Amino acid sequence: MNILIYGGSFDPPHAGHFALLAAALREAPVDRAYILPSARPAHKRLPWASFEERARMLRAGLAKRLAGPALKKTRVSFYEKTRRGPVYTYQALAHFRRLHPGARFYLLIGGDQYAAFKTWKKYRRVLSQATLVVGARRGDGSRRASGASGSPALRAGGAARAAKAGAIWLKGVFPAISSSELRLAFLRGEKTAGKIPAAVLSRIQRRGLYGLAWLQRQRRRLDAGRFAHVIQVSRLAGSLAERYGADREKAAAAALLHDAGRSLTPPRMIAYARRHKIKAPLKEQIIARCPILLHAYVGAHMAETEMGVSDPEILSAIRRHSLGDLRMSGLDKIIFVADAASEDRAFAGAARLRKIAFQNIDRAMRETVKMKLAYVKSQGGWIHPLGKKLWRKIR
Ligand SMILES: [Fe+2]
Ligand SMILES: [Fe+2]
Repeated sequence: MNILIYGGSFDPPHAGHFALLAAALREAPVDRAYILPSARPAHKRLPWASFEERARMLRAGLAKRLAGPALKKTRVSFYEKTRRGPVYTYQALAHFRRLHPGARFYLLIGGDQYAAFKTWKKYRRVLSQATLVVGARRGDGSRRASGASGSPALRAGGAARAAKAGAIWLKGVFPAISSSELRLAFLRGEKTAGKIPAAVLSRIQRRGLYGLAWLQRQRRRLDAGRFAHVIQVSRLAGSLAERYGADREKAAAAALLHDAGRSLTPPRMIAYARRHKIKAPLKEQIIARCPILLHAYVGAHMAETEMGVSDPEILSAIRRHSLGDLRMSGLDKIIFVADAASEDRAFAGAARLRKIAFQNIDRAMRETVKMKLAYVKSQGGWIHPLGKKLWRKIR
C-alpha cells in the first residue's frame, strides 16, 4: 500500500494545491491520499476559516478537480483537529504508520517547502520514513534536483540528502499562489480570478469567509464614496504594514472596518452611543460640539458586536483612527495615517503625507495631527482637548 500525505493550512485551498495533488496522484504510485489541514492557530483572531469549513472547501474543490478513481483514493483527514497544539510532520507520519502498518509513505510538498526542508523538526526521521514528492513552484527557484540547475539553497545539501532518499519531482511547474495574499485580496474586494476553483470560491462567497461578510456589510451600509475610501485606506495600510513589519491582514481588516460608524448620521450616532453606553474621551463634550467624532468609537462597537471582530488590536485601531490617543500601537498609527493619506484624499499635501508615511511613521503621525488641527482651526471648529494633548506630546 502506497500512501501519500499532503499537509497544509489550506486557508483557503487554492488552484496551486489542487494542481499539485492531481499531479502527484497521476505521477506517484498512490493507493490512498490523505490531505491534512492544520488546526487553526489559537492566537489568530482574524476571520480565517474554521477547520470544518476548510475541510468542506477541500472536498468541494477535490470533487471538481479530480477524476473519479483519483477522488476515490483521497481523504480529508481530521487528524490534526484532534490534536492539541501544533502537529509536526514526523508526528503525523507516526500516526499514519500506526494506522497502516507496512505501508510505504510519500510526502507531497511544494518546491518552496523543499528548499526549507532542513528546518523541519526531525527532518532526517521524516526522510527515512517517507519519500518526498515535490512540485516546483513558479519563481521559488526550486527545480529538479538532478542536474546542475538547482538553486544555491538546494545545492547546499538539502537537495543532495533528499535525492539520496529518492525524491520524486513532479513534471512541470506549479503556480505560486499564496493563501495569505488571497485572504488580503478578499479583505480588499479584489478579484481572485483563476487562483481559486469556482466550487471553492462560491462557497467562500456564500459563507462570507475571509472578511467577505465585512466587505459586503460596508458596501451595503456606506455610501459609494465612503466605501471607495475604505478600500483605498486598506491598500495603503497594507503597504505600510509591510513596510513596518506589522500584520498586513490585521491592517487590511482594521482599514476595511475603520469607518463602519459612518453608516449612521450624527443624530443616530449619538443615539447609538447612548444606547450602548459607548466609551469615548469626554463623550458629552463630543456630543455637544462635534458628534461626528463618535463614529470611531461607535464603529469599533459595531465591528465587535455586529461583525464579530474580537481582535483587540483591530478594535483599538478603529477606535483611535480619528482622534488618535496619547499611546498608540504600530497598527493604531498605520490606520491613523493611512486614513488621512489614502489615495482618494484630495487635499493639498496628501501625496506628500503618503511619502512621509513610508519614510517614518512617527513623523507622518506628527504631520497628520498638525494638519488635522490646522484644518479644524481654519474651519473655526472645536478642538478636542485630547487632540491638543496629543499634539503637545508628539510635536
Ligand atoms: Fe473616520
Ligand atoms: Fe476614514
